[in-house]
Amino acid sequence: MCGIVGYIGKDNATRALISGLYRLEYRGYDSAGIALLTKDNIFLKKVAGRVSELDNAIRDRVPDASIGIAHTRWATHGVPNDINAHPHTDCEKRFAVVHNGIIENYRTLKKFLEKKGHRFETDTDTEVIPHLIEEFYDNDLMSAVKKACSYFKGTYGLAIISLANPDCLVVTRMGSPLVIGKGKDEYIVASDLAAIISYTDKVIYLNDGDVAEIHPDRLRIESREFGPVAPEIERVTLSLEQIERGGYKHFMLKEIYEQPVILRDTIRGRLNYEEGIARLHGIANYIEKLRDAERIIIIACGTSWHAGLIGEYMIESLAEIPVEVEYSSEFRYRRPVLKKGTICIVVSQSGETADTLAALREAKRHGATVLGICNVVGSSIARETDAGIYIHAGPEIGVASTKAFMAQIMTFALLSLLLGRLRRLPVDEGRDIINAIRRIPDQIQSLLEELPGQIKELARTFKDHRNFLYLGRGYNFPVALEGALKLKEISYIHAEGYPAAEMKHGPIALIDKNMPVVVIAIKDAIYDKVISNIEEIRTRQGIVIAVGSEGDSQLKKNVDHIIYVPKTLDHLYPLLTILPLQLLAYYIADFRGLDVDKPRNLAKSVTVE
Ligand code: M6R
Repeated sequence: MCGIVGYIGKDNATRALISGLYRLEYRGYDSAGIALLTKDNIFLKKVAGRVSELDNAIRDRVPDASIGIAHTRWATHGVPNDINAHPHTDCEKRFAVVHNGIIENYRTLKKFLEKKGHRFETDTDTEVIPHLIEEFYDNDLMSAVKKACSYFKGTYGLAIISLANPDCLVVTRMGSPLVIGKGKDEYIVASDLAAIISYTDKVIYLNDGDVAEIHPDRLRIESREFGPVAPEIERVTLSLEQIERGGYKHFMLKEIYEQPVILRDTIRGRLNYEEGIARLHGIANYIEKLRDAERIIIIACGTSWHAGLIGEYMIESLAEIPVEVEYSSEFRYRRPVLKKGTICIVVSQSGETADTLAALREAKRHGATVLGICNVVGSSIARETDAGIYIHAGPEIGVASTKAFMAQIMTFALLSLLLGRLRRLPVDEGRDIINAIRRIPDQIQSLLEELPGQIKELARTFKDHRNFLYLGRGYNFPVALEGALKLKEISYIHAEGYPAAEMKHGPIALIDKNMPVVVIAIKDAIYDKVISNIEEIRTRQGIVIAVGSEGDSQLKKNVDHIIYVPKTLDHLYPLLTILPLQLLAYYIADFRGLDVDKPRNLAKSVTVE
């Protein structure tokens, strides 16, 4: 949700900033802007639209500068136009600021500043920031920023430049991510690593409340609460290849095709066949607590919430621990009853989702142990949880989550195996699960070779339908939810996911000869019940696209289209049944000519409420 980037050093700042913005564009893409510090003024350019439009607008028309900041926006306050785009400045244009987050009390601050004579030009919350810095500035940018921050309620990642302090860049954060990359006589700061790794692999993660004053050859960090902080430099292993499209038309397609490889990464070193158990070192110190938990609450948003639902089914059936799954945004604002013996697990691909981060903090405030299932190493959620499991999916750039979902499900498969074995499963059953888990990456690989032709055909047939229904039961009910979410977020076709049996309690009214219904009907414990649900659809002339188990020739006779997936254990089927639904959503969106990786109104990580 908004990408910010800042540069100070020996290189051409514009180059670093624009290439950084391209890499951060998946975070928000409705407008973009840049501010460069020159000898006499702050050069400013802001445009509505994509980074490429900013790039075109300034090409060959920018001054030389070695300090600057830039922004790619996902609008919250103020429509996406040139004026509301960042950077924002003060009355005299001596300070420029880029911001990721929301200043919740901006109306009060604006009134206060207007009374003092400040003039505002935009409808944004952000504009109060440079004005407040201007108000408090007394020859020291870092002090003015610290003082201004003490007035803000809300979240922010900020980068600030000032005409009066031309040799430094000041950055700070509260609730929004910010990473500082350290090069040789240069620093590049950004919302995430993607904008940094072509410059350096040495990074410093700022903590909430930290303010950094950065010069080309040194930096100073202070915590607003605790005073000076010694910078901790970490080395990152992310490679450029991982964040490039590598010949695929879209990141989403690349990420779908990466799934066999990333699942091997998710399980690598975590299975012990001899003992029929999984090993999860990240939570090693909490295993007994988990084993003896009276209740587990899984907290997440969006696709991660769907993975949490599958986790609930897995943990309850394999380990017999009661599990609930909560939306982060609901959990954080109600009064959760967290008795001793309750463990919370927050799930997040980005590790920066504002509601999930707030829910984590709320759970901790109630004294709960909070574990994480996270993808982005070093992210806020990964750092604030008591312990956690990384899913090892690598950078996910496509806004529609695919490989992270798979890796989250696999992580729950490992966790439920571990807890199941510690509580009730015999070793042989553990070994059967391990065998089935090990087969999954190859099974997905084969599907990726077999399915695309068939799914493209289906996508061509159905691309102009306005509504879809997705049905599944048991472990595959959350897959139906996720299939529907994928379709609506990238193709803008209305789609609903339902537990198949719930259909007759309402959604059945939607079914007629124009309604495609995607039904996951694999040969699991409730197969016969799903077949009855299919009959109910067919009786009303709905079009059934079934995902079935290979070899189920009977099913083929009862449906209009069938996609087969190989056999596995019931609780592992979601890892296979989601694949055709991801591909179907992708090809429908692509045939509709839509921007699959940057769907309208969305952003990759939702760092505002
Ligand atoms: O980074 P997180 O897993 O916390 O993100 C949660 C949701 O915002 C995310 O899954 C969203 O629903 C995706 N666009 C789904 O494709």
